[in-house]
Amino acid sequence: MKKMFIKMSAVFVSAISLSLASCSESSAPEEALMSASTIEAESQPSPYSNEITLREIMSSLIDLHADALWNAVRVVADSNGITEYAPESEEDWNALRISAVSIIEGANALMVPGRRVARPGAVGEFPEFEFTPEEVEEKLAADRQSWVQFSRGLQDAAFELLEAVDSRNTDQLSEYGALLDEACEACHAVYWYRAGI
Ligand code: HEC
Repeated sequence: MKKMFIKMSAVFVSAISLSLASCSESSAPEEALMSASTIEAESQPSPYSNEITLREIMSSLIDLHADALWNAVRVVADSNGITEYAPESEEDWNALRISAVSIIEGANALMVPGRRVARPGAVGEFPEFEFTPEEVEEKLAADRQSWVQFSRGLQDAAFELLEAVDSRNTDQLSEYGALLDEACEACHAVYWYRAGI
C-alpha cells in the first residue's frame, strides 16, 4: 500500500516537471497529462485511518494533555497554606512539550474526514445536556467548515503553548492555557452542548 502510494507520487511529480519544462509553450498534450494525473491522484483513497472515534481522540490525545498543561502553573490553598506550582526540571518541561505536541497532532486527527463520533451503540453521559453522537454526526455533515475552523483554533492555541514551553516562559504558559480553554469551549458550545447551557 505504502509502496503504491510512493509510486503514484512519482508519476505525479514527473507530470508536474514535464508541464513546467514546457510551460512557456503551454501546449495542449502536457495540460491533458497534468489534469489526468491530478484526477488520478485525487481519486486515491485517503491514506489516513479514521477508525478511532472523535470521542477517543478527545479522551486520549486532547483532554489528558490539556489537563497537564493547565495544571502546570497553579496555586493551591490548603491546610499547608498557599503553594505555587510551576514547571522546574527539564523533565517537567519535556512532559509539557509532549502534551502540546499531542494536542497539535490531535487537532489534525480531528480534521481527518469520515470519523464516527463514538463507537456504535455508545451513549453520552448526560444526554439531556449533550447532543448524542448521532446528533453530533448530523451537525458535522451539515457544517464541516466550522468544525475545521474550531479544530484549527485548538491547534493555534496549542502552538502558542508549545512556544511558551520552548522558551520556558511560565507566564505565557498560564496565559495561553486560558486561550486553550476558550478553544475547547467554543467548539463544545456548537457541537456538543445543547442550546442554553
Ligand atoms: C473541533 C471541536 C472540538 C474541540 C476544539 C474540542 N472538542 Fe472536546 N468534544 C467535541 C465533541 C463534538 C465532543 C462530543 C463527542 C462525544 O459524543 O463523546 C467532545 C467531547 C469531549 C470530551 C468527552 C469525551 C468522552 O469520553 O466522553 C472531553 C473530555 C473533551 N471533549 C475535552 C476537550 C478539551 C479539554 C478540549 C480542548 C483542549 C476539547 N475537548 C476541544 C468537540 C471538540
